[in-house]
Amino acid sequence: MKQIENEKLNILAIETSCDETSAAVVIEQKGKPIILTNIVNSQVDLHAKTNGIVPEVASRAHLEAIVPVVSEALIDAFGKKSEKLNYNESISLLGKHITHIAYTAGPGLIGSLLVGGNAAKSIAVSLNLPIVPVNHIEGHIYSVYSDNSPSLPLLALTVSGGHTSLTFMSRHIKYQNIGHTIDDAAGEAFDKVAKLLDLGYPGGPIVSFYAEKFRSNQETKGGNQKEDDRFVFPRPIINDGTFNFSFSGLKTAVLQKILNLKKNGDLSIEDKQAICAAFEDAVVDVLVTKSIRACQKLLPKTFVLAGGVAANKRLRERLSEKFKVECPNVALVVAPLSLCGDNAGMIGLAAYYKIKDGKTTIWQKAEIDANLEL
Ligand code: KG4
Ligand code: ZN
Repeated sequence: MKQIENEKLNILAIETSCDETSAAVVIEQKGKPIILTNIVNSQVDLHAKTNGIVPEVASRAHLEAIVPVVSEALIDAFGKKSEKLNYNESISLLGKHITHIAYTAGPGLIGSLLVGGNAAKSIAVSLNLPIVPVNHIEGHIYSVYSDNSPSLPLLALTVSGGHTSLTFMSRHIKYQNIGHTIDDAAGEAFDKVAKLLDLGYPGGPIVSFYAEKFRSNQETKGGNQKEDDRFVFPRPIINDGTFNFSFSGLKTAVLQKILNLKKNGDLSIEDKQAICAAFEDAVVDVLVTKSIRACQKLLPKTFVLAGGVAANKRLRERLSEKFKVECPNVALVVAPLSLCGDNAGMIGLAAYYKIKDGKTTIWQKAEIDANLEL
């Protein structure tokens, strides 16, 4: 059993907005939130069979996983480890230790959100505990508060399968939407390009792997890591004067390139690698350029990169190179790899700051909203 000093807030957090069933315990230690345990049950293998998420299938999988995942989180945080989950023990641990229930209220897939939301409400009503609805994007932003406390104001780029947004946070729990995608999200574009190239699901890590292969092959050949000129893709709305993003045209440009190449036969593995590298460079260029410009205009103390696509190596590298030169006074904080994808730990971290800000409610008022805005 993990030791808990100065026990204060003990939050059970639940996240089921898309295709990960996750439960975490976040506790207060020395005036800061720490993630005691963070269990993530991924549905990736299930959705790989259909090359993407079927919402009904995701919802059913959450239903099957939610009780074991919540029990595992509780036992991992406070209980006795054994081979088999002891549901009765986990229920008594809930009553004994947990002070607040947090859950993802949206945005996300409605059938998925309902499972986590109802689980949270059931626990809150049976134990008479306060409940904390958390916006999924604020969860991603707060993922950087796991092992440090970035200074405010901060500007955050949240890039995931469902979102691409720039959010300004002047103080805790106060958000201003600076820019967002007007069509596809960055991660969605990675997933769609992977599909066009028959690379499987989810696309981000595979496209990135192929892109890295292209670059290392170029290096071996003695060339520099520049894009292959035959595969340069547009940087949509990079100079439109807003902080919005658009990735659907980029995906169409990739499709056009594939169709042209296919006129001469099937795509070679080298062609696929070159396309992935050029596509990744285009996405990264747009994200980095707009982030830098937003920082230069809004002058935050910290810039945060979070969300599933924040795991992208090229994006992390480029952002850090550019920030050193163009925004040397802004601290760049990138979400830890373990918290980039969807997880309940980040929901618990955001909940901690919401509780401190008095933003708890009763289960009767705890809602979910597939299109919840920040
Ligand atoms: O945050 P997340 O787990 O779920 C949503 O909130 O949507 O993000 C998942 C997205 C997927 O689109 C996935 O392809 C993308 O993040 N992703 C990546 C990488 N790892 C995951 N995209 C680019 N490069 C990666 N290394
Ligand atoms: Zn997410």
